[in-house]
Amino acid sequence: MNAHVDSPRYLVPFDLRRLRVLETDVLVVGSGLAALRAAIEASASRRVVVLTKRDVMECSSRYAQGGIAAAIHEQDTLESHIADTLATGYGLCDERIVRAVVTEGADAVRELIAWGAAFDRRDGALEFALEGGHSRPRVLHRGDETGLELERTLTRVARRLKNVTFLEHTFAVDLITKGRVCRGVLFHDGRQLRAALADAVILATGGAGQLFRETTNPPVATGDGLGMAYRAGAELMDLEFMQFHPTTLYLAGASRSLISEAVRGATGTLRDRHGRAFMKDYHPMGDLAPRDVVSRSMLQQMLKTRDTQVYLDITHLPRAAVKRQFPGLVALCRRFGLDWVRRPLPVRPAAHYMIGGVRVDLNGRTTVPGLYAAGECAASGFHGANRLASNSLLECLVLGRRAGRHAAGIFRRPMGKKVAGHPRLQPPDGIDVIDLRNSLKSLMWREVGIERSGPRLVEADERMSFWASYVMQVAFDDPVGWELQNLVTIGVLMARNAAQRRESRGVHYRSDFPARNDRTWKKHITIKADAARIAAQQPRES
Ligand code: FAD
Ligand code: SIN
Repeated sequence: MNAHVDSPRYLVPFDLRRLRVLETDVLVVGSGLAALRAAIEASASRRVVVLTKRDVMECSSRYAQGGIAAAIHEQDTLESHIADTLATGYGLCDERIVRAVVTEGADAVRELIAWGAAFDRRDGALEFALEGGHSRPRVLHRGDETGLELERTLTRVARRLKNVTFLEHTFAVDLITKGRVCRGVLFHDGRQLRAALADAVILATGGAGQLFRETTNPPVATGDGLGMAYRAGAELMDLEFMQFHPTTLYLAGASRSLISEAVRGATGTLRDRHGRAFMKDYHPMGDLAPRDVVSRSMLQQMLKTRDTQVYLDITHLPRAAVKRQFPGLVALCRRFGLDWVRRPLPVRPAAHYMIGGVRVDLNGRTTVPGLYAAGECAASGFHGANRLASNSLLECLVLGRRAGRHAAGIFRRPMGKKVAGHPRLQPPDGIDVIDLRNSLKSLMWREVGIERSGPRLVEADERMSFWASYVMQVAFDDPVGWELQNLVTIGVLMARNAAQRRESRGVHYRSDFPARNDRTWKKHITIKADAARIAAQQPRES
């Protein structure tokens, strides 16, 4: 579907002849697990630049808690992991991708171990945790700080490679295209606008949780890759599918820290204000039902009991086991003076994982030649309409590796520097970026959140489109403004896709269409900018 958001092709005017231009073979945007795995792979044969907006370690990957799912236990099978992934995806998984990620993922995890990733072990044997939707314990972990261990491991490997250069505190603003082909990125290095030209570009910019008032995601998750790809004409897919995680600590003034599903896997129990364990009322799997079911059940129980939260009870767990398995959670409780030994912890759901993204094939190729995407910013069809717990780190490794390998095989002639873009933009006078960002996050949480309905989605789309009509027409000169422009763009598209999907499926729940409708909706919704508009605004060769 063509979808028009009132957006210029480029967020900034530029003329390559007047910019400092860096040239490389493969340019990777982002430094999470998907980016690092792609960079390591591509660097086997080509020069790689990794460009990231904060320091290398700042990304969602670094905060992953529960772990990484892989069918490598001797009693586990690839078929069982594949079946669990397909069942959780509510009919929208691409089975070919699922088979590839699960099968190659098992090797990718063994490779991580060989590179030094230290997963928890008992008596020398790897330990596997149980999480929602898995038919057996399958999740490898390092306490509840697995992401930190994996991010450190891959950073260590990548930093040793002479073909890989890191550019930190460097914000990618837009993709440079010539004809329809992606040839590089416009970026801001903290002082000035610059350009990086490459034979292939891999987007690994992570998710867009910052669209919502309540989110587990770090501040970098602002959907920049999706915004850039949309403006460059790439197809986006499945944007209506945003996964909400049931358990984040809910305390006024505290950021919404995730409490891992592994805590419920270890028999942590959700209770209401009267102490009642309510999840069995809603689903036979109780506390380990799929996340969408748990999140909605929590909302209903909150309504029933007139409370703003429910409570996660771990008071029955042996102290030593909690300290060993969940050191991050224990530290979090200590920071806020919470006595987890005696009192259940206040929790609420929050936006967690963006299933939708830039549409890619099995090699990470997008619909724009020369442009690849991997990790959370990509939509490969692996997760379908709901993501199985701890499957995303696995996808980052496999599709990162595949994208890196494929991108390294792209060779192009130098494109010259006679390229310029001249969007007609106003100065950003009178726009309060923080105010608008907060309004957007509240609106998205209220109207495009866990429970949706047609009229409210349409109203949200109209409100955000109106904001876009002025905020997309100005030239900001710093990342805060560009992030807002990306967030508004993706907010409009997400509301529009959610309004279009008139059924409930996986993480997308419509109170006006509560049933799944396979006859009409067993398909993906793709969306892209109008090609004629993009062509009219292509950079000129001057
Ligand atoms: P990220 O790791 O988010 O990296 C994105 C990178 O892109 C960052 O370096 C960012 O700075 C950079 N970037 C973004 N925009 C720009 C720009 N404009 N210019 C330059 N750089 C940019 N999944 C699991 O499988 N298991 C778990 O246990 C688990 N726990 C989680 C816990 C939390 C709290 C969160 C938030 C997520 C969790 N997830 C988990 C999901 C998983 O962590 C993410 O899906 C995954 O790490 C995404 O990796 P990525 O490489 O795609 O993106
Ligand atoms: C968690 O630890 O609950 C998060 C796991 C995930 O998002 O896959």
